[in-house]
Amino acid sequence: MKLGRARLGAALLVASASALWRGEPSAAASPPSSAAASPPSSAARPAALSDEACIACHADAARTWQGSMHHASASNSAYETAVYAEPLAFCRRCHAPHGDPSRETGEAARQAGITCTTCHLRPGDARTVLASPRAGPSSAPHGVERSAALGQAVCARCHEFDFPDARGERMQKTATEHRASAYAAVSCASCHMPAAGGHRSHAFAASRDASALARAVSVDAGRDGDQLRFVLEPRGVGHAFPTGDLFRRLTLTVVSEDAAGRPLATKRRYFGRVFGPVRSGGEIVRREIADERLFARTEVTFALAPRTDPTTVRWQLDYERVAFSPTRHPEDAVVEGSVTLARGTLAPP
Ligand code: HEC
Ligand code: HEC
Ligand code: HEC
Ligand code: HEC
Ligand code: HEC
Repeated sequence: MKLGRARLGAALLVASASALWRGEPSAAASPPSSAAASPPSSAARPAALSDEACIACHADAARTWQGSMHHASASNSAYETAVYAEPLAFCRRCHAPHGDPSRETGEAARQAGITCTTCHLRPGDARTVLASPRAGPSSAPHGVERSAALGQAVCARCHEFDFPDARGERMQKTATEHRASAYAAVSCASCHMPAAGGHRSHAFAASRDASALARAVSVDAGRDGDQLRFVLEPRGVGHAFPTGDLFRRLTLTVVSEDAAGRPLATKRRYFGRVFGPVRSGGEIVRREIADERLFARTEVTFALAPRTDPTTVRWQLDYERVAFSPTRHPEDAVVEGSVTLARGTLAPP
């Protein structure tokens, strides 16, 4: 059986109130800085804003957003395959916020994905745009509320959430990881929205950007006879690596070869979340039993079987997007996409 994202747990309950704005300080609790806000006077009340309007006036932001996974959140094949297997309102509320979550996503909401208004407008207020904090008035023809929430709390609405059953376990936990990291004081947007041509990029390339992924970890490989030692160190990552989807992982593969280049042995080490059977009430459910992703500098050792002839070792570190695991063996996982982050050779001693 395919063990989908939601079905990793016990019987599903219908997720009722997964309000995307829950947990975020309300406008009343964190007033915008007074100098910056431009509350519309009742005389010149701007019209309600739509995505079409934002896109028409902000071509630069629109161009980078167009190629983003946010725009493709309901139409990319990995999501469409997964939601076909688990057709839940829970999934649609987040991936297709413009549709009716209780039915199959309609074409307009599927094409739209996560849009300008999803991130920049608060529910019930289609006239005031959330913007990042900075001093000085705004020349915008619409209301502007400056709030640090845009670059952080808004992200956490979707990048941190529980499984849809009532077990209280996180399906993704990027915001929690971020708070516990050395970069807790740096917002998500500071790292994920670099300046591009005077504007902030809305591309959020992340796992589709092979060179950014490769820069995010360094590998130091060493060998002492039959003993191999690897030191993996995340670089400038503000959370676990990988973060996000629960099936992401890094795989370190080590292959020893004899003098003629014939493979002798292959060993692997996985850095991911491990889900396994746990007794809960009268039932056996699958829960996270270990989190083996990279959080800090991590040392890994392998011992080769002793041999008298010279053995060469080839190694490689891959970043893998996993669709699902049919068994509890990580080597059986169905890999949807993978990027090689580093590789090398350790010559015979
Ligand atoms: C009629 C044109 C128009 C429309 C429609 C429009 N904007 Fe703007 N917006 C502007 C202009 C002009 C500025 C000021 C110059 C700038 O910062 O680019 C601005 C500023 C902004 C800012 C920066 C505010 C600041 O001072 O930091 C954000 C964020 C923003 N708009 C987002 C949006 C979003 C999201 C939408 C749709 C919900 C939208 N805008 C709709 C014209 C428009
Ligand atoms: C995933 C959430 C998200 C989506 C979707 C999104 N934005 Fe933004 N946008 C942000 C954040 C966060 C910032 C502030 C970045 C910073 O300055 O820290 C921002 C900044 C901006 C700015 C001001 C900075 C600049 O580049 O000029 C504009 C204008 C803007 N967005 C327009 C848009 C438009 C138009 C769309 C839709 C095509 C859109 N945004 C979609 C999160 C989002
Ligand atoms: C409405 C929900 C929502 C909001 C708000 C949101 N995201 Fe996302 N984000 C998603 C979804 C869903 C995806 C993945 C789409 C997919 O792969 O199917 C995604 C993808 C991403 C990715 C790419 C991940 C990858 O593997 O390449 C990054 C980076 C990201 N988001 C960062 C942010 C940041 C930073 C913010 C806040 C400024 C933010 N997101 C706000 C839902 C959201
Ligand atoms: C100090 C910088 C930094 C901060 C802060 C940060 N990230 Fe990241 N993030 C990275 C790097 C580096 C990567 C991996 C390389 C890449 O994909 O760009 C990454 C990757 C990701 C990914 C793709 C999955 C993966 O691990 O490859 C997502 C999703 C994401 N970040 C979301 C967030 C969210 C949401 C926040 C805030 C809660 C955040 N990030 C804060 C640097 C940061
Ligand atoms: C609260 C928001 C939220 C809910 C609910 C949610 N997701 Fe996601 N999903 C995300 C975010 C955020 C990402 C991007 C994280 C990343 O790229 O690592 C994502 C990524 C994905 C991906 C891409 C994985 C990859 O490696 O490319 C798939 C597929 C997916 N989700 C399917 C689902 C399905 C199916 C459900 C329902 C069982 C679901 N999601 C429920 C927020 C959500």
